[in-house]
Amino acid sequence: MKLGFLVSHNGSNMQAILDACRSGALSAVPAVVISNNSESGALNRAGREGIPSFHLSGMTHPDPESLDRAILDTLLKNEVDVVILAGYMKRLGFATLRQYRGAVLNIHPALLPKFGGKGMYGNRVHEAVIRSGDAESGATIHVVDENYDTGPVIAQERVPVAPGDTPESLAERVLACEHRLFPETLQKIATGAIVLPQD
Ligand code: GRF
Repeated sequence: MKLGFLVSHNGSNMQAILDACRSGALSAVPAVVISNNSESGALNRAGREGIPSFHLSGMTHPDPESLDRAILDTLLKNEVDVVILAGYMKRLGFATLRQYRGAVLNIHPALLPKFGGKGMYGNRVHEAVIRSGDAESGATIHVVDENYDTGPVIAQERVPVAPGDTPESLAERVLACEHRLFPETLQKIATGAIVLPQD
């Protein structure tokens, strides 16, 4: 199973997956990393790990269709089977989505379908969870469709919200959970224990 990553910032989830590939806990090969942010920590991580990496964005491709095409070509050229959105702040283009339908996964730092949708990212998610008074939050991995955070959920893990939690303290606990959940879920896909929905 060859993995292609789309990342915008730090890339700690990507790193957790790379570590699992290296340790053998995950039977997959990291094939390529694409970032819309030329300064992202994720691109540095990819460089350190010797994984082919590319900056593809509205800067390199001002026309959205040509950007979509460039992203798709890069994934295809590197023979990617599963596309991983690990903190990717952009929407995927139609061509990429069509080609990889059912094989694009995103991780969200809450228990979808709650606290998802446009504008729900980063600390905004954790602020909303704390404001709601919910006793639990968590991490969700879902298949990506045309909308934000709406595709079929394939894995979820719960995390308690502690009294006195700040968005930052809750984010830290959820992120630690994400780092376990993503490699574990990918391994289940690699072994066939989870079958991705086909159209
Ligand atoms: C994670 O919290 C993930 O749920 C969200 O973006 C964040 C990415 O963090 N989609 P990192 O770049 O993997 O550190």
